[in-house]
Amino acid sequence: MDRLFGQSLPVMQIGPYQLPNNLILAPMAGITDGPFRQLSHQYGAGLTVSEMVISNAELQHHPRTLKKTDDRYGSGLRSVQILGTDPQQMAAAARLNWQRGAELIDINMGCPAKKVCSVAAGSALMKNEELVSKILDAVVNAVDIPVTLKIRTGWDLANRNAVTIAKIAEQSGIQALAIHGRSRACKFHGIAEYDTIKQVKQAVSIPVIANGDIDSAEKAGQVLAYTGADAVMIGRAAQGKPWVFAELAAKLQGLAYLPPPLTEIKAVMNQHLDNLYDLYGNVGGVRIARKHIGWYFDQLGGLPAATKTAINQAEQPAQQMALVNAAFNRIIPPFA
Ligand SMILES: Cc1cc2nc3c(=O)[nH]c(=O)nc-3n(C[C@H](O)[C@H](O)[C@H](O)COP(=O)(O)O)c2cc1C
Repeated sequence: MDRLFGQSLPVMQIGPYQLPNNLILAPMAGITDGPFRQLSHQYGAGLTVSEMVISNAELQHHPRTLKKTDDRYGSGLRSVQILGTDPQQMAAAARLNWQRGAELIDINMGCPAKKVCSVAAGSALMKNEELVSKILDAVVNAVDIPVTLKIRTGWDLANRNAVTIAKIAEQSGIQALAIHGRSRACKFHGIAEYDTIKQVKQAVSIPVIANGDIDSAEKAGQVLAYTGADAVMIGRAAQGKPWVFAELAAKLQGLAYLPPPLTEIKAVMNQHLDNLYDLYGNVGGVRIARKHIGWYFDQLGGLPAATKTAINQAEQPAQQMALVNAAFNRIIPPFA
């Protein structure tokens, strides 16, 4: 993991920062916490973004909110994603996170949830262009660090206003724009489309990051070429596979790629689990680790049902870790 990746991939500039490459880990609530961002960073992600934090003032000091932005593990530039609908509240949340050490603020207008904390936030905001403009202006003016924005293509297929929102964003001083190639109404159904992303790229001069269903180097290369985007953002393809960034970096440079050996994957999982126990405590850590364990083993051909059940029933870190390591020792070729 101490190998250097992505040295000759296109670099990406966000305000004063030059990212080492154009491969970005997507923000994913419940997944892209410090331990996961650390691994993605170690495997060469050019930027990782925190899980979203709600801008509501009381929640800003909640222990759960603080864990979402906890960067004690080191994961490169500290980009904190905020979500909300009130311009002044968003500005205050941005300022607070800046004071807490954020180096980038990312605004979430891509979340499809109907209501987050009883308000129509996330991509629902795209319907109200005036409010979008107010939020972006307020946040950009509140901090002295770059602000980025994440959107969808629109609020439904008939109302794909990403180009309008992108122009508003550019005018407000947003320094990079990520677009998930689905509308809000699409949720996660169907396949992402890249035509709207291409139109956005042609309409603005700020860096554009293409996102949605990018799960291989081939797809990443196609999306970059088709849209002209400056970078790609990877979400679900990194679950249980933080080394996806190393794979993409090597293959996009035309280099041979060897997946990590089982011993390395085991070490990665051990590091991941140890850090989850450290961050969330024994009970929370064991619970959160379960989904990651499932995803890692999916990459390795899956687990026998009885082993899966035993791992899911483990309640203490040492017990969970021992079961995971025993399961590794039983993995048979071609995965060994
Ligand atoms: C479990 C999960 C949680 C997510 N949480 C967030 C979030 O907090 N903020 C956000 O902007 N997008 C969130 N997303 C959307 C992703 O950032 C990304 O746009 C989407 O998954 C499409 O990319 P992919 O096909 O590479 O996964 C989430 C997606 C998933 C699957």
